[in-house]
Amino acid sequence: MWRPELPYNELPDLPPRVDVESKRVLKHVAEARAALAGLDQAARRIPNPTVLLNAIPLLEAQASSEIENIVTTADELFTADQLNADATRPEAKEALRYRRALFDGVASVKQRPLSTRLLIEICSTLQARDMRVRDLPGTFVGNPVSRQPVYTPPEGRVLIAERLDAWTRFLHTTREFDPLVVMALTHYQFEAIHPFSDGNGRTGRIVNILVLIERGLLSEPILYLSRYIIQNKAEYYRLLLAVTADGAWEEWTSFMLEGIRETALSTMEKIDEIHVVHDDMQIELRSILPGGANADLLDVLFEQPYCRISTVMTRCGVSRPTATKWLKMLADNDVLVAIRAGKHLLYVNTRFFSVLTRTDRAPQPSPTLF
Ligand SMILES: Nc1ncnc2c1ncn2[C@@H]1O[C@H](COP(=O)(O)OP(=O)(O)OP(=O)(O)O)[C@@H](O)[C@H]1O
Ligand SMILES: [Mg+2]
Repeated sequence: MWRPELPYNELPDLPPRVDVESKRVLKHVAEARAALAGLDQAARRIPNPTVLLNAIPLLEAQASSEIENIVTTADELFTADQLNADATRPEAKEALRYRRALFDGVASVKQRPLSTRLLIEICSTLQARDMRVRDLPGTFVGNPVSRQPVYTPPEGRVLIAERLDAWTRFLHTTREFDPLVVMALTHYQFEAIHPFSDGNGRTGRIVNILVLIERGLLSEPILYLSRYIIQNKAEYYRLLLAVTADGAWEEWTSFMLEGIRETALSTMEKIDEIHVVHDDMQIELRSILPGGANADLLDVLFEQPYCRISTVMTRCGVSRPTATKWLKMLADNDVLVAIRAGKHLLYVNTRFFSVLTRTDRAPQPSPTLF
C-alpha cells in the first residue's frame, strides 16, 4: 500500500497492470507521431542543421532548468555560450551543462543502448560532480520548507539498482507499446524510482529525448519538450502523483503524448519562420555588402543568434578588419544589433532570436513579403 511519507519500495516494474493503449491513447499516439515525423522531416530538410542544433537544445536547457528554479534568460545563455566567460552566472553555467549532458547522451545512444551507467553520467554532468545512485534515506518529493512529502521514492542502493535494471530491460525489450507510449511510461517510472538525491527531473527530461532518438523517431535533439512541461508544471506533477496513487496511466500517457504533438508542431512552425528570416536576410546581405557577401557569413548568423567578430574571422576565413567592417555595416543597416558584454562586442541577429524565443503562435506571413 502506497503512502506519501513512506519509501515506495513496492513500486511495481513496468509494464503497468492496466491497459494503457486505450482508444483515446491510440488517437493521441497517431497525432503525436504525425507531428513528430513532420518535425524530423523538416529538420532533415533545413539547409544548415546547425541552426537548430545549437539553438533549440539551448532553449530546452533553459526551460528544463527553470523547473528547478534555476532561472536564466535566453539572452544570458546565448551570451554565455559565446563568451565562456568566468563572469557567467552559475545559473547560466548550469543550463549550459544541461545542454552538454543532452549532447553527450545523444552521442552515446547513437553508439550503444541507454544504460544505468549513462543515467549516472548524465546526472553527474548536470550536477558537476560524481553522482551515484542514492544510498541514504531522506529523499522525497514535496515542499522542502514544510518538509511535507508528496511522494517518497524507494530506498536502498540495491533496491534502486534493481528497479533501474528492470527499467532498462523494459525499455529495450518491450515490443508491446508504441515507442511514444514507451517514453511516457519510462518517464513516470524513472521519476518514481528517483535514483539520485537531486537532478532526477532534469535527467528524466533528457532521457525522454534519448528514448525517441534510440527508437529512431527523432534524429537530433530538437524536440523542445521541456517547454510544455514547464508550462503545464502543476498538471505534470498532479499526473505523476495520480499514476502512483490511482494508477492513472491513461491520463498521464495522454498528457505526455499531447506534449510531443504540441512541441513538435511549434518547433516546426519555428523552422518555417526561420526559413523566412533567413531568406530575407540573404537578400539584405547581398545589397548591404556588395561584392563582399560571403555564404559562410549567413550561416554564422544563423548558427547562433549572437555572434562575435572572431567567429566570423574563423568561419569565413577573413581578416579582423573585414569581419569588423561586415558586422558594423549590418548593424548600421539594422540587420544586426551590436551589444557589449563585458569587454566583448557581440552582434545579435534579433529577428532570428525573437523567432527562437517567441512562445505565442506565429503570425501569418505579411502579404508584403510576396
Ligand atoms: N509525485 C511524484 N512522483 C514521482 N516523481 C515526481 C513526483 N512529482 C514530481 N516528480 C519528479 O521529481 C522531479 C524533481 O526531482 P529532483 O529535484 O531530483 O529533480 P531536479 O532535476 O533537481 O528538479 P526539477 O525537475 O524541478 O528541475 C520533478 O521534475 C518530477 O519529474
Ligand atoms: Mg532538485
